Amino acid sequence: MMHYFTEERSVETVNARMGKDSDPRLAEVMACLVKHLHAFAKECHLTQAEWEIGIDFLTRTGQICSGERQEFILLSDVLGFSMLVDAINNRRPEGATENTVFGPFHVEDAPIRTMGENISLDGKGEPCLFEGKVIDLHGNPVEGACVDVWSDNADGFYDVQQPGIQPKWNNRGRFFTGKDGAYAFRGIKPTSYPIPDDGPVGKMLAKLGRHPYRPAHMHFLVTAPGFQRLVTHTFVGDDTYLDSDAVFGVKKTLIAPFERLEGAETLWRSPFDFVLTPA
Ligand code: BEZ
Ligand code: FE
Repeated sequence: MMHYFTEERSVETVNARMGKDSDPRLAEVMACLVKHLHAFAKECHLTQAEWEIGIDFLTRTGQICSGERQEFILLSDVLGFSMLVDAINNRRPEGATENTVFGPFHVEDAPIRTMGENISLDGKGEPCLFEGKVIDLHGNPVEGACVDVWSDNADGFYDVQQPGIQPKWNNRGRFFTGKDGAYAFRGIKPTSYPIPDDGPVGKMLAKLGRHPYRPAHMHFLVTAPGFQRLVTHTFVGDDTYLDSDAVFGVKKTLIAPFERLEGAETLWRSPFDFVLTPA
């Protein structure tokens, strides 16, 4: 039976248009999206003017996107949506290292470095030794794990945000574990920094009375055959923004020790083990 559109039957009317041959998963996701989108407009009684502001915001969000900038992912990040999708898809057993947001600053194929090597190439910041083991859920070392790391520099920028200012591959590198599963590299004690806030997402945060800062962290992507891909960070425990990360990436288990070393050339040491989950 055919229905014309009414406020009351809006969801059913739209979803009834779905073709019989459309992909079943696509149909399921879209039907759910329509249901919640309509419920959103009904619950907050969205005005025509507000709808126009929303459309204008999404238009500007799309217009600022480029090969180097993904404002829609940033929007997803600041709404906690990226972390939610990550949580739904990475429910891990007790003891396994938790995932957190990937972020836009990872670069594929970073230089493969030798264990202990320094990834900080600009001479800025407080030197820090990062070390630990990649292990499985039983504590056995994982050999051949790739520990791909990246961080901002002491000024709060990733190398890709400052081409020509920072050396290429500054604060990045890949390290492969041996039989003992151990990794070690020197970098800097990370600093907190604002996410790119000169676009529509930054303006939205300002209007909502939210700051754009992320607490200081080191990014890790740990992969090994037979194990789930681990996308995570370690956080510096005394950071001002730990309780108000702009992208909700902080998890208690990811706050790492940063120990000050007295009288040493390397000022800090941050030990942390990564516990991988079987694939
Ligand atoms: C980052 O940690 O690099 C990041 C994550 C989400 C949005 C922006 C930056
Ligand atoms: Fe980051």
